[in-house]
Amino acid sequence: ATTGMPMLAALAILVLVPSARGLDRAEFLPGFLFGVATSAYQIEGAYLEDGKGLSNWDVFTHTRSRGIDDGRNGDVADDHYHRYMDVEIIHSLGVNSYRFSISWARILPRGRLGGVNSAGIAFYDRLIDALVQKGIEPFVTLHHFDLPHEMETRYGGWLGAGIREEFDYYADVCFKAFGDRVKFWTTINEPNLFTRLAYVLGKYPPARCSAPFGTCESGNSHHEPYVAAHNMLLLHAAAVHNYKKNYQATQGGSIGIVIAMKWYEPLMNTTEDILAARRALSFEVDWFLEPIFFGDYPGEMHELLSSNLPKFTSEEKSLLRKNKADFIGINHYTTIYVKDCISSPCDLNTYETYEGNALVLATGERDGVAIGKPTAFDGYYDVPEGMEQIVKYVNQRYKNTPVYVTENGYSQHSNNTMDELINDVERVNYLQGYLTCLSSAVRKGANVRGYFVWSIIDNFEWTFGFTVRFGLYHVDYETQKRTPKMSAKWYRDFLMGSRPTD
Ligand code: NOJ
Repeated sequence: ATTGMPMLAALAILVLVPSARGLDRAEFLPGFLFGVATSAYQIEGAYLEDGKGLSNWDVFTHTRSRGIDDGRNGDVADDHYHRYMDVEIIHSLGVNSYRFSISWARILPRGRLGGVNSAGIAFYDRLIDALVQKGIEPFVTLHHFDLPHEMETRYGGWLGAGIREEFDYYADVCFKAFGDRVKFWTTINEPNLFTRLAYVLGKYPPARCSAPFGTCESGNSHHEPYVAAHNMLLLHAAAVHNYKKNYQATQGGSIGIVIAMKWYEPLMNTTEDILAARRALSFEVDWFLEPIFFGDYPGEMHELLSSNLPKFTSEEKSLLRKNKADFIGINHYTTIYVKDCISSPCDLNTYETYEGNALVLATGERDGVAIGKPTAFDGYYDVPEGMEQIVKYVNQRYKNTPVYVTENGYSQHSNNTMDELINDVERVNYLQGYLTCLSSAVRKGANVRGYFVWSIIDNFEWTFGFTVRFGLYHVDYETQKRTPKMSAKWYRDFLMGSRPTD
């Protein structure tokens, strides 16, 4: 059992509300990117227009709508495809960058064999031109969970090695078409989280499970998540290789990857829990970053997974090492506690508690006290100090490679009243707290180059459907009206340098 003292000390840190005086845009280097983020499937809609092919999410939401909390889908979403002049509200905030993703199925409706859809290229041309014209850097993700459905049927999604050439081809089409104006590319968004949801828990397409976790009719292999990840790592390296060899010198951009990263605190101050927290990070973050930067998986993964972990050949190791990421994107929302499940058994068979095969139990509470204020998003708590920790960890471990915080944001329940949704003081506190901790990291010398709020507008939140809202702008899905929340005004005031008004 814990003694009262450390708990009180921890609580004292967690309840501190940071003051506006601690936060000043001028503390960040000139050229620091401040932006907002979205992804194609979550906002675009127009799911079958102008030659777009069906994506895995189009098919999944139509055939398995019971897997989505409100049974809805992204057919229309924010109708951004017809309202790409959302660029105007983006611009009004005073940001200098916008992170969005390209819908692979809009560019190559059936993958490599079906040919390029020129209307898809034209859409992103219009969007990118509008951004550049307003002085906003496009920060582009090539894959953010949605891929042409035909990739699933042809290759079993990320399980078949054929997906590597498909991605390489798709990335090349994008570099060629947009690289004159896009200077920031990322290959894959959150491959670690995606792989877990798609191949361990069966919650995202192709809805496969890894025993004993998840409940699916199809798939039950310990091997699959690691095979999918392996392919993603190799196709990341191949796309980086192509960009560096054929585009970087003339286009002058950079290319990276985005990883979902929680911060993990040991539940108790014991060696076992301290090692468990370390292991959770290793299975979440280093699973992808160690191969990218050093050419192989972390030692803990080899030990615990043995033959379930695929092996890189020596050529693959060298491809990886020669084509590292120019920068690391961190999506960070929360911190949780971690308890060791090797020396004492735990019930790991639930979504909230399972953190990979690291044999740890992750929890938001200690002795019934939450680690931070809960948010509408299950398992996400407001713990701003985690931001500084994760940035420090990544900088130290990956040789001070530049870092962009590519996502950070706060969710509300959609069924709150309009008044509550618009007066989102909790989001203001959350963002202010996390940005204050980021500025403290920067002050201490962390190599951070940008920060993006998720998201500019409320949107389709995957298996949560439209039941939660992450936007700085409220969206009325009946009328598509966008209304700024208090947090939009707060972000604009911070960015434009005036005093906070509300
Ligand atoms: C992770 C994902 O990149 C994004 O698609 C999602 O909406 C947010 N974080 C919030 O869960």
